[in-house]
Amino acid sequence: MIIQWTFLGVGQDERAEPYRSKLWKEAYGNVLEVGPGFSASLKHLQHKTTKDSNYVVDPDVIHSYTALEPNPFMYGGLQENAEKVGFCVDYDHDSYPECTMSGTEDPHKELVPFKIVRGTLDNSNNIPQAILDGAPYDTVLTSFVLCTSTNREEFIRNIVRLLKPGGTYLFIEHIRHPTPGNPLVIEDNGVNGRFWGKMQDWLNPIWNIFGQGCHITRDLGEDIANIDGWESVDYKMVRVNATFIAYFVPMAFGKAIKA
Ligand SMILES: C[S@@+](CC[C@H](N)C(=O)[O-])C[C@H]1O[C@@H](n2cnc3c(N)ncnc32)[C@H](O)[C@@H]1O
Repeated sequence: MIIQWTFLGVGQDERAEPYRSKLWKEAYGNVLEVGPGFSASLKHLQHKTTKDSNYVVDPDVIHSYTALEPNPFMYGGLQENAEKVGFCVDYDHDSYPECTMSGTEDPHKELVPFKIVRGTLDNSNNIPQAILDGAPYDTVLTSFVLCTSTNREEFIRNIVRLLKPGGTYLFIEHIRHPTPGNPLVIEDNGVNGRFWGKMQDWLNPIWNIFGQGCHITRDLGEDIANIDGWESVDYKMVRVNATFIAYFVPMAFGKAIKA
């Protein structure tokens, strides 16, 4: 995963930022993020400026945040980033510490709780109890995670299961190049999708080894839309050509509402 991030993931945050920064503003309520890593997401949530200019996640919009992450290597950075934007961080095995906004206009106001839990949604029989206890969620988020899932259909079914009826799944995932002319492509950046799709097929076995299980040939927008239980699924795709690596990771982003 370190290799994936330092080489294969170069520029990923920057490429995703224009789309993620709008989409993630729609997260609300009781939020579950799966595979947050160090969490590129948190800075894009709804924030508010306090009297003394501390920029904190807005507790009127985000009521709690659960981060389900299989790799403990990420926990230190994740905790640091969460605290930077005003969350009160706790781990699954601890009880919530008392967290107040010291130095703000209301030092006794509670900070938004942020729980880090170890695990995945790949296997319905192995979802951590803390995740089940925290359900149902108003919002589930994933970004660049389904590419490494060992069972993405089950993973997506579990997202549906954990959401409240009417709850929102927000996603941004890298995909195989869509066929030219696909109406869901909103920016094609002059990239030849047919050629680069074949290049992805060719490179995928090697990428998969160096990217520690990451696949670049998945039609993840379609995979999400094909799972039962959604009232609506609305996504778009972009081909990116900012760097050489970017030709291999066009993106699908959007939202699905649970029926
Ligand atoms: C490429 S990073 C993306 C991190 C972050 N979401 C972002 O957008 O920057 C993939 C993250 O997903 C986690 N991950 C990989 N496979 C997973 C799975 N099957 N279930 C949950 N998380 C997973 C990894 O440990 C890592 O933190």
